[in-house]
Formats: sequence, C-alpha cells, structure tokens
Amino acid sequence: MNLGIDLGTSNSAVVGVDDSGLRLFKTDDGKDVLASAIYFDRRGHMTIGTRAQAQAELSPDNVAQGFKRLMGTSSAIELEGANKSLTPEEASSEIIRQLLRQVEAETGSNEFAGAIITIPAAFDQMQSEATIRAAHAAGLSKVGLLQEPVAAAMAALEGATRRDGRFLIYDLGGGTFDLALVEASGGAVNVIAHEGIKMLGGRDFDRTIIDSVVRPWLAENFQLPENPSRDSRFKRLFAVVRMKAEVAKIELSTRETAVIYLSEDDARAQDLEGNDVYVEVEISRLRYEELIKDRILETVEISRKMLRENGLSNDDIDRIVFIGGPSKTPVIRDLVSRELGIPADHKTDPMTAVARGAAIFSESRDWSVEKGQRKAARGSVSTTGGQLTAKLDFTARSADENARLRIKADTSGGEYRFNVSGPNGFDTGWASLDQKATISLPLPKPGKHVFKVQIEQADGKKACDDQLVEIVRTEATAAAIHATRTVSVKVAQGPASERRNVLHPLIEKGTALPVEGVTSYKLREKLVGGTPDRFEVELYDHADGVDSPDLNLAIGIFAIPADDILEPGQVLAAGTEVNIHWQMDDNGLIRCEISIPSIQVHSERKNFYNPQAGQDRFDGEEGGSLAEAKLVQAQAAINDARSAIGDDSKLDGLQRRVARQHELLSNSSDAEARRAVTEEALHVQQELARLKEAPEHRRAVLLQEIEQIEEGVADLVDSFDPETVERLNTLLRSAREEISNKNWSEVRQLVQQARTIFQRALVQQPGFILHMFETLSEERHSALDKNLHDRLVQEGDQCLESGDIEGVREVVGAILRNRMPSESESGGVAILSSLMR
Ligand SMILES: Nc1ncnc2c1ncn2[C@@H]1O[C@H](COP(=O)(O)OP(=O)(O)OP(=O)(O)O)[C@@H](O)[C@H]1O
Ligand SMILES: [Mg+2]
Repeated sequence: MNLGIDLGTSNSAVVGVDDSGLRLFKTDDGKDVLASAIYFDRRGHMTIGTRAQAQAELSPDNVAQGFKRLMGTSSAIELEGANKSLTPEEASSEIIRQLLRQVEAETGSNEFAGAIITIPAAFDQMQSEATIRAAHAAGLSKVGLLQEPVAAAMAALEGATRRDGRFLIYDLGGGTFDLALVEASGGAVNVIAHEGIKMLGGRDFDRTIIDSVVRPWLAENFQLPENPSRDSRFKRLFAVVRMKAEVAKIELSTRETAVIYLSEDDARAQDLEGNDVYVEVEISRLRYEELIKDRILETVEISRKMLRENGLSNDDIDRIVFIGGPSKTPVIRDLVSRELGIPADHKTDPMTAVARGAAIFSESRDWSVEKGQRKAARGSVSTTGGQLTAKLDFTARSADENARLRIKADTSGGEYRFNVSGPNGFDTGWASLDQKATISLPLPKPGKHVFKVQIEQADGKKACDDQLVEIVRTEATAAAIHATRTVSVKVAQGPASERRNVLHPLIEKGTALPVEGVTSYKLREKLVGGTPDRFEVELYDHADGVDSPDLNLAIGIFAIPADDILEPGQVLAAGTEVNIHWQMDDNGLIRCEISIPSIQVHSERKNFYNPQAGQDRFDGEEGGSLAEAKLVQAQAAINDARSAIGDDSKLDGLQRRVARQHELLSNSSDAEARRAVTEEALHVQQELARLKEAPEHRRAVLLQEIEQIEEGVADLVDSFDPETVERLNTLLRSAREEISNKNWSEVRQLVQQARTIFQRALVQQPGFILHMFETLSEERHSALDKNLHDRLVQEGDQCLESGDIEGVREVVGAILRNRMPSESESGGVAILSSLMR
C-alpha cells in the first residue's frame, strides 16, 4: 500500500491507496483528522490527538501544538510540566508515527511501498529537509514530498465530472496559506504557479480575537499587570483563552454571535487586587469579520498578482477550490470569491483533500528509489512464440477515460488478424492486421484494467502468444511539478574596488522538476593550502524582484576548507573556475556537488545546507531579541522609504503590518509568534524593496540615495583621501545628470557604485569600526555560535583597551562571519562572497 499524509499545523490525516482505491484511515476516536497535538503526563506517558489537545486546557505546560510552524528552526519545544523537550522535527515525527498506527490498526500491516508527505508551497529548503527527516525517524524509508496545493488539486479532480479547465486552489489552514493556479486536461494536473504565506492561518485569527477582544475586556474588568500573557501566573489563563477563542471562532462560521466564557475555576488566577479572574465576552460575526478582513485581502492581493503574472483574468478561471478549516468561514469564501469574481467549488472536502491528493500522487510513484520517482506513463512489450513477433506500445497510466494501444508486426509474409478484449465486455472482434493497428481502449473506472491481445493467422492458428496488457486509470496525474522558489547563489560583482554581493539565480521559480545543471563561477581570492583559508558557497531563497542578499532568506551554506583540497603551500589562484553541479528533484530538494577542474577536485554529492548554520532559534531570551531587532529594521526601512516617497497607501499598509507585529510580540513570548514576527518583518522589507522599484517612485528613491551619500561624503570629507572624494563626487554628479535624462538603470548603477566606494572608505575609518563593534557586540541573537560570539566580544574589548584598531577590525570580521549569511551584510559592510561570475 502507498500512503498520502497531510502533516498539518492543526490537523493531520492519512489516506492509503492500493488496487481497491483510496481509503481514509480514521483516528482511534473515529475522526477523519488527527489533531496535531502531543501531551505528556507527569510520568512521561504520551497521548496524541484530540485528547492531547483537550489537555491544553488543564495543563498547557505539557502539550505541544503548532510545531509545524517551527520546522526547520532549532527552537526547542519545552514541556515544562512533563520535564520534556522536543525539537519540532521530533514532534512531527510522533504525529507521523501515530498516523501509521492508525493504518496498522485497520490493515494489520506496517509495511508500505512508499509515502508522500505534503508541505506548504512556501516551505523553504530547511523546512522540507526537516520534514523528510521527521518521516525517516518515524520509520518511513521511502518517502517523498508534495506541495499541499498540488495535492489539493489532484483531489479536486478525483471523481469530478469535469476534468478539464483552470482553477485556483485556495488553502487556508491552521498555520499557512497556500495558493495554486492549476490547469487540468483529461485529469492531468499542471500547476502553473503557486504562492504562499508561511505564517498565515487559523492560529493567527485566534490570536487576533484574543488581542482585540479578550485582552481589552480583561483590562477593563480587572487590574492586571501590563503584559499578563507573559506573566507565569496567567499562562494557564491565556492557554485556556486561546482554546476558547478558537471554539468561538469556529462557532462564528455558523452563528451570528459567540461567547468566550471562562469561569473563575477555569481561569484559576487572581488580579493584582486579589479578585478572581473570569472571562465572559461576546463577539459578533461582524466584528470578527472586520478583524480578519485585512489579512484576507492580503490573500486576495496575492491571488490577483498571480493571475496578472500569468496573463490571466478572472474569466479564465472556472472555480476556486477552498481547502482548510478557516475556509469554512462564510466571509472568507464570500469575500475571496467576490473580490476575485470567480465562483466557489463546494464539492471538495476541505479537511481531507490534501491527504487524498497525496495518496493519489504516491500511487503514481515508482518507489524503487528512496524518494520515489514518476512511474512510466507508457508501456511496451513484445510477444512472440509462433510465426510472428508483435510489438505492443500502450498508455500504461492515464487519468483519461481512454487509453491507446498500438500493435506493430511485420505481416508482409502472410495474412494475420487480431483481437483485443477487456473488462466490461469490451471486445474489438477479429480485425485484419496490416503492419500496424491502433486501438482505443476504454477505462471505465479508476484502477487497473487488463486487456488481452490475441493475434492469429488466417487459418486460425496462433501467430504468437497471447499477451496481457495492464493499464491503470489514475484519479489524476501530475503533469509537471515546478520549482516554487528561485534559488540563487551569492556572488561578488564588479571591479575590485567596487565589488558588492548580488544574487545569481541557479534555479528559477517555475522551472519544471526534476532539473539539474552545472554553473561556473570563479574564485574571488586565492586559496592557500595549510592556512585557515576556505571558500563558501551560499544559497538563497530569492524573493521575486528583491535582489539584495540581506533582504532574502539564506537557506544553505557549503564551506570547503583549503586544507581539504590543497597540499600545504599549494596555491589556487584567484579567478580559478569553480563549478556548481546542482540538482533539484521533484520533491523540491536541492543537492549540489562542487568541482574545480584545474585540480581535479570533485566534492561528493551532499545536501547543500548545514542544518546548524541554517537555523534560527526563536525560543529563549535571544529569540525575543531576534524578532525585536528585525522589527526595528523593518520600521527603519519604512521611515526611510517614507522620507523619499512621502504619503502612500501601500506604505500605510506596511506600517500597519509592522504595528500588528509589535503588538503580537509584546503580547506573547512563544517561539511561534516570534518566528511569525521575524518573517513578517522580512516580508515587509521585501515589499518595500518592490515598492521602491515602482516606476512612480524611482526618481524620489534614487534622489534620496544620492543625497544620503552626498551628506555622508560631506561629513567625512576631511578623513577620506581626496582621490576617493573626487571619484565619489564625479559619480554622484553623473547620477544627478542621468536623473534628468530619466536613464534609470544608469542612475541605479552609478548610485550603487558610489555607495560601494563610500562604504569601503567608511570601513577604513577607526571611528566607524568602533561603532560597528559596539553595535555588533549587542547582537548576540544573530550569532550562530553564541559562545564564539562572547569570546570575540571579549577579544574586541581587549583590543579596544590597548588601542589596537586593526585587532578590532579583525574581530568585527569574525563576528560577521559567525552570523547567518544574510546578516553578515550588517551596516552595509558586507563580507564579499568567495565566488564571482
Ligand atoms: N468551521 C470552521 N470555521 C472556521 N475555522 C475553522 C473551522 N474548522 C476549523 N477551523 C480552523 O481551521 C484551522 C485548522 O485548519 P486545517 O486543519 O485545515 O489546518 P492544517 O491543515 O492543520 O494547517 P496547515 O495546512 O496550515 O498546516 C484551525 O485554526 C481551526 O480553528
Ligand atoms: Mg492543511
């Protein structure tokens, strides 16, 4: 049996598929979906599912939930009450194990041909890898990944009468939003585009209800400390409130009002004046709709953008298939459907579609390789045994209701005839065979169909052995899987004195998978064996239209020490060719190897990223500072943009998003919230970068940049060497001139050149280095190795005391190298990539 597993933030499901079709395996308590919740009692006994979820009310400290949103990070999930600590990966693994137990309980078997686990389209490399590891740990050896919207699309075609057309998959789940534009033709699904928001789902709506309704009510009725939810005395209260808010939210899908009620006994907390706290607050559907409207409109905006980018309008789309719990909310369906002008599909079950689609897909995989590969769509056999050798070519797998069979034989030596018979009384009768014949075979229902091909001579004697041909009609097939993100390499660009880092795309979003290739780069600096020299290849998740490395997510780093490839003293010159042999399989996972032809070095194939280097921690004190720092950055970027372009409604929208994140951060201290905040801060900055590129803002933005550099030069004119000042002034003058010519790409280039030269000169200033050292010392949260950071800061302090500026400079470099690649560009002082184009 093959399995399809929907490993959801809130709920998970498992569907099996074999010759008899699809089969949903229910939970012990008879539910379609398993709550993704894990509870440990004090004796360490584990419970998973609805009962675990219910325990969150009584002992929130012992229940793990929502951990999918922490996948691919190093954040620990601490279950203090049970004295346990789990990684998000371990927690996911427990959920998978439980789903496998559900299958075993019904089938008695724990042997599976292969399994497909679904992931949000927005999952990056680290999150995908973590999911595969979780599956392996749960005992699944043959396992592949599939994007949730692709799975949903396949399920939407299952049993559908219309198996052609274009539709949108709108999947709003507990934690993530996924959107896909799908084209279907005869049951073959082609996902033309997908998009997603990693951090948008039902859990955010629960939070909104708490923050906008429950919190103000509490503040009005009780004397509470400033941030009660961060106070351990109220932890329980808020855990229970969260559950009740979710219940109320779900009620609002079918009712006009709901009450969030917690008795004094539920709350078990006293306010500052010693009063027993309770909650009794009503929320109307209208109020709830207002609260989530902005976020829903964000999904509408993404949908519009997707249609626009693909040259389509609403008329080109037949229907929207709504997937996920929150999409049962009437206002969400109505608003999205109305805003986009596309009718809603009401047939697909929003809770189990993803697992069903995954199962359909897993059936289409050939599991003789570890992560699975596509089964052949065509088959071919030869039959002989008598006078004739006949070759049969046929459709082996099809989502269509008909398949084609072609018989070819050299019949020149006599007269022959053939007969094909099959299920449901299908029979071609005897027909003469003249070299070749093409027959259309009906496939009345999904599953396996066996046809018998007979060929005989004119006298009725068999011309060759009868041959059986097996054809599978699938529920749906995936015509192609596409890369959901552009993956780029960080490279240094420009002449030596003006070099800066840019992203160079390896695999473009939308490329059909699997795909592989070789791209050549050059070493920027020489490498010497026997020294600590090394070179690094850094991989980025490259957001559309945002080219600056520090505004993108670093997803992997691949370091090669000189000592691994060179003899002591051996030198590899700057400019040496370095090849990256890259490959993205149809699970969306990247693998790379690196070769240096001049010294015949070929690194072994391995995963591109280093899990330690690639992961942020969002728990603990530092997790808070990390999120805080990102918000400060985003706010600074907004202020900067506003001073260039003035009032703008898009800017206001971004400002609101930042404000919301501030609120979220001050109200909660859990890792999940901090990750959400950190991601939002990055998205806001990416949006700003796009906004600044808009034609109507170009002039103002470039002028501002010119002015900023001019001011900097004026401030430092006495410390810079005259040549540099002269060069900068020339560049800036030309930039101003080109502005009046509206020659934007030229202006941009001049400004970039000027900025790079300015920063280079700035770094030479002792005062600047001291300032950087002070700032960086404080940013322990950005350090990969915290202990190393502490040692470096100590070292820097000693250098400072002894007035050793060069020493401080080195320490600054080392601190930057001990950060995520995207954060090593701090203060405009980038560590240049080891590679160049
Ligand atoms: N009838 C309903 N109306 C509104 N919201 C609902 C309803 N039923 C469930 N939800 C919400 O849906 C969310 C869970 O949805 P779902 O099970 O689709 O998510 P998931 O698949 O676990 O998450 P993801 O796909 O993001 O990983 C929860 O936030 C839950 O409160
Ligand atoms: Mg889901």
